[in-house]
Amino acid sequence: MKGLEVLSTGYAKINHILDNQQLEKMVDTSDEWIVSRTGIKKRHISCKNSVDLAIEAAKEAIKNIDQSKIGLIVCATMTPANRMPSNACLIQAGLNLNEQDMMCFDISAACSGFVYAMTIVNSLLKTMDDRYALIIGSEQLSSIIDYQDRNTCILFGDGAGAMVVKNSQHAFYSYQNSAGNQEVLSAKNDPQDYFLKMKGQEVFKFAIKVIPESIDQVLNQAGLTLDDIDYVICHQANYRIIKHVYKKYRCPSDKFYMNLDEYGNTSAASIPLALATMNEKGLIKKGMKLILVGFGGGLTWGATLIEW
Ligand code: ACO
Repeated sequence: MKGLEVLSTGYAKINHILDNQQLEKMVDTSDEWIVSRTGIKKRHISCKNSVDLAIEAAKEAIKNIDQSKIGLIVCATMTPANRMPSNACLIQAGLNLNEQDMMCFDISAACSGFVYAMTIVNSLLKTMDDRYALIIGSEQLSSIIDYQDRNTCILFGDGAGAMVVKNSQHAFYSYQNSAGNQEVLSAKNDPQDYFLKMKGQEVFKFAIKVIPESIDQVLNQAGLTLDDIDYVICHQANYRIIKHVYKKYRCPSDKFYMNLDEYGNTSAASIPLALATMNEKGLIKKGMKLILVGFGGGLTWGATLIEW
């Protein structure tokens, strides 16, 4: 068994919208500046924490599957509801899955969390026969954003996406990397220095270097080219970052799915949220090949090439 079959997806539906016009009243910025620099028009903001958002996404993902087969819950997040217990254990409780053999834990790899989680789940599931895994990316980023800091508050939103997978013969190739660094991106536990901090131009340079590196790594492993890939789903940080990458590959923009205009940057939730919304729209069909690319705080980065 090589890879994973995706059985279902789900995402949290957050009604409260913070659009650029509202941000214009909060900080010295403009819709024109935000859209031209980032592509973001609005973000969804929730009073629910990352456990409750995850449960909402997971409920949708598990509603039509045999829940007794779930043996693993992994939640990627950088805004866990508690230091302990993990989000994943609380999601288990919230889904009433306490009465079955289960392994539950969180992954902290910032915006690369979901890609890291897929690789870990693929390895672990190989020891678990026909059990299913529930993989979730969930963030309440609004809890760590300073809404007086125009450098960061325009970028981020809340969200959660979930996916149920099982072992299969489907293609699965992965690449991960990291470089210990807290200068470029950080969100500390220090009450005096609590909010997310970012050096925007450093992030930009980092992203346009590691996204092609990650894509090339999984393509080389698979012996494929970008022409063989139906969609590349990058972490939804910024339109200009993704545009830079598809231009570099001289490939059509619609191969690089984007929904950041609607959701902003939701960190570990951005890739599963994109997958769930694409799935809902019927964009992803069985047998399609996708590359998922994460990059973010840590610094961390990586990609998985999967077959749907
Ligand atoms: N509205 C208006 N002006 C602003 C805003 C704002 N929201 N934010 C900054 N500015 C100002 C700055 O203060 C600066 O003014 P100054 O020249 O008077 O000093 C000017 O705009 C230019 O600032 P820069 O930081 O040079 O702007 P830049 O063109 O680099 O754009 C941005 C900033 C959008 C953050 C860009 O660097 C970028 O896209 N970086 C990538 C960041 C990113 O995607 N982060 C995602 C989070 S991390 C992750 O998910 C991996």
